[in-house]
Amino acid sequence: MPPASEPAASPPEPGVPLFDLARQHRPLRAELLAALEAVVDSGQFIHGPAVARLEAALGAALGARHVLGVSSGTDALLLGLMALGIGPGDEVVVPAFTFVASANVVARLGARPVFADVHPAELVLTPEELERRLSPRTRAVIPVHLFGLPCRVDELVAQCAPRDIPVLEDCAQATFARLGARQVGSFGRLGAFSFFPTKNLGGFGDGGALSVADGELLARLRRLRDQGGRARDDYTELGGNFRLDTLQAAVLEVKLRRAEAWQAERRAVAGRYAALFSQAGLGAPGDERLQLPPCPAGREHAWNLYVVQAARREELRAHLQTRGVGAGVYYSRPLHLQPCFAPGPGRLPAAERAAERVLALPCYPGLTPPEQERVVAAVAEFARA
Ligand SMILES: Cc1ncc(COP(=O)(O)O)c(C=O)c1O
Repeated sequence: MPPASEPAASPPEPGVPLFDLARQHRPLRAELLAALEAVVDSGQFIHGPAVARLEAALGAALGARHVLGVSSGTDALLLGLMALGIGPGDEVVVPAFTFVASANVVARLGARPVFADVHPAELVLTPEELERRLSPRTRAVIPVHLFGLPCRVDELVAQCAPRDIPVLEDCAQATFARLGARQVGSFGRLGAFSFFPTKNLGGFGDGGALSVADGELLARLRRLRDQGGRARDDYTELGGNFRLDTLQAAVLEVKLRRAEAWQAERRAVAGRYAALFSQAGLGAPGDERLQLPPCPAGREHAWNLYVVQAARREELRAHLQTRGVGAGVYYSRPLHLQPCFAPGPGRLPAAERAAERVLALPCYPGLTPPEQERVVAAVAEFARA
């Protein structure tokens, strides 16, 4: 107990969390609860009308001919590979620097993920790296639009087309990102999306979607999503339960109506970071202390995560923590070095270097300019020390 004469300590400043979903949901609370209530009252928890409504609305929002709601982003990738007929003996090229689900879906089907290195600044698969990994056994390629930055997927698709290799875009972190005039997910044979709560369109739990243009492939995806049945009690192939819950669809329908405004906020946050870091004398090209996320011309980043690269990443993260600033590491070990994929292909230097340097800073709708100033001041304080 401090003596009664001691002045009261000023309350600690509130921190800047890495994520804060409550800011998104608070203004929508009544709408979200009404949507959930409508599902509860209908009793249609499986394939309820909100699922088809969401699929149609997503098709329009993503510029996709068809969208199929599924149980998660992981299942979107798995189901996509199943529909493409991937199995034992097949190779699927996957970047080594991504979330584990981009690759474990390949191995779960008995196929082999072939890991490619990534662009050292963009951290995504390039046509040059893909060329090195293609073989006569390549049956699919999974480029990942990591953190929300579109990779050069148009070039990857053109590279694969003469060899008839389908491209399954992993858009889990890049919902609403664009390459030129087109949104990601519309370049490859299939696009896989995640509605994990912190994604650009996030539900109240797990959910995902596949975008597809080909009607035959869509029909196959529909069958495989529901146990592989052609009709009730008529199973011609092995499927699974990959359905999107009606309750999630109802939430996503409400949130999709705000998506454009939220995307604009994410872009504003990223722009403000660039300006603030520049004012602080940080992040210029070649600055080893801090490398800002690139956004090459012609590509519209979705800014799911704002990931910088820092030479002394762990020390910076610890420093930010002392200043109440949330920061996160995506990912500290590349996939070719994960025990579940051993033996790996040997060294992939750009992926390994990225794993030592990446750090995500707060970036979400509702993040305020003073909060961003606080983040940048804390980074600058570290860089000057
Ligand atoms: C790049 C990437 N691929 C796939 C997934 C899997 O999505 P989900 O968590 O919805 O299964 C994620 C999710 O974090 C992801 O970031």
